[in-house]
Amino acid sequence: MNNKVVIFDTTLRDGEQALATSLSVEQKVRICRQLARLKVDVIEAGFPISSPGDFESVTTIAKQVRGPIICGLARAVQKDVETCAKAIRPAARRRIHTFVGTSAIHAKGQLRKSEKEILDMVKRSVKAARRFCDDVEFSPMDAGRTRADFLCRVVEAAIAQGAATVNIPDTVGYTLPEEFAAIIDMLRNRVPNVDKAILSVHCHNDLGMATANALNAVAHGARQVECTVNGIGERAGNTAMEEIVMAIKVRKDLLAVRTEVDTREIMRTSRLVRDICGMPVQPNKAVVGSNAFSHSSGIHQDGVLKSKKTYEIMTPRSVGLKENRMNLTSRSGSHMVKARLVSLGYSEKEIDIEPFYRRFIQLADKKGTIYDDDLVTLMESRDKGDLEDIYALEYLNVSSGTSTVPTATVRINARGKVHQEAACGDGAVDAATKAIDRIAGFTINVDDYHLDAITRGREALGRVKMTGTSPEGTFTGVGTSTDIVDASARAYMDIVNKIARMRKFGKKLYRRRKPEEDL
Ligand code: KIV
Ligand code: ZN
Repeated sequence: MNNKVVIFDTTLRDGEQALATSLSVEQKVRICRQLARLKVDVIEAGFPISSPGDFESVTTIAKQVRGPIICGLARAVQKDVETCAKAIRPAARRRIHTFVGTSAIHAKGQLRKSEKEILDMVKRSVKAARRFCDDVEFSPMDAGRTRADFLCRVVEAAIAQGAATVNIPDTVGYTLPEEFAAIIDMLRNRVPNVDKAILSVHCHNDLGMATANALNAVAHGARQVECTVNGIGERAGNTAMEEIVMAIKVRKDLLAVRTEVDTREIMRTSRLVRDICGMPVQPNKAVVGSNAFSHSSGIHQDGVLKSKKTYEIMTPRSVGLKENRMNLTSRSGSHMVKARLVSLGYSEKEIDIEPFYRRFIQLADKKGTIYDDDLVTLMESRDKGDLEDIYALEYLNVSSGTSTVPTATVRINARGKVHQEAACGDGAVDAATKAIDRIAGFTINVDDYHLDAITRGREALGRVKMTGTSPEGTFTGVGTSTDIVDASARAYMDIVNKIARMRKFGKKLYRRRKPEEDL
């Protein structure tokens, strides 16, 4: 049996269905170009009959994107098939994917059709699609809950009419891995012409089984997996592309199959989809979450320092990250802290780790995460002892609106001396930071600004993380408040205090080497 698993990406069809706003044609083309770089085999670009906008997207992608097969979705009716054929016509390699619900719940409950009528629709639509395109895929929707005998008859009919791929969807994410694989076994054993088509799977994640179901189906002979980047899709989403591809790579010893995906493009693809779709990736998401290659506990960090294999089953580089991340917190051990100081350019000789580590723990207990700039400040202040903030924000007032020039007034206490300043800006945050600059007496270039809601609801707490650069180096500042301008001003003040301390110590931040950054 062929050991290649075809990767069929449906981010722009099933994935897009789950987005609050639809993507523009230009955004979809950008995602497709990246999917082509990732080397997926098939891109399901949309559902052309569903709207003129979707038609335009599919046909533009068909014209502009080369490499993968461009596929369009069509219900099992003549008009859908014709419209789909028209939309994908410009593609160098094209596929029509036609589908109809086959479970009693879908056929009778939704479509009000008998099994005989459904079977006729299958035959007619696959036959019609074959008149336009050599490559036709058929899906019996809700196969996971379809009567076994009927599913076998439908699959046999679709293959007899010329479907080269038959996709088995677990549309509502209902099945468990053994049960789903048993459906694949049954089709392989009972459908006489099954070897004339590739069996594909399309699993939803309602019970968190999408990846397990798809992988188990592959172990039982399925050779195409339908998936989406970051697992986005209807309700709880679809099988995540990155999980399937990396599971196949990491566990080739067990699965003995392969994909042609360039795994080093995974992270870039994930971030592009996250940013364009406005769908955040949970930090603990397998493979692409921001914590997927971060180590936090002291025991884990110690293990990874000695041998990466202790806690890493795949390398960050294999998914396109430069390196793993060790989060420095009060749980980090002194070995880890020392190793980070060395990577920042300090020599072993100048690090007196015991007293340094005591001060590190004090600061980590107060702040939580310790960034590289905090570590350098701690190091540089080791003989001077003073780590208290120099500037404290006492008062902030901003006025902004659609027809007012944004203005901010700030009052800052600098070790007992009170300063007040006002400034205008391009927005409330800009005005507040300019007013702070006037008091501190220096300007910081804000390179990166990130806002997260850390609690829910309208009065949610916002956490702002910024990085800012001055001649003393690049610093990270964090601020939290129910007001985003206040959170931003506090993050900025965090940076101001770090720079002020470095000035006081007469030092620059990175003495020898900047740590590598991801991507
Ligand atoms: O979940 C599903 O059944 C689908 C089909 C159209 C394949 O998305
Ligand atoms: Zn689906």
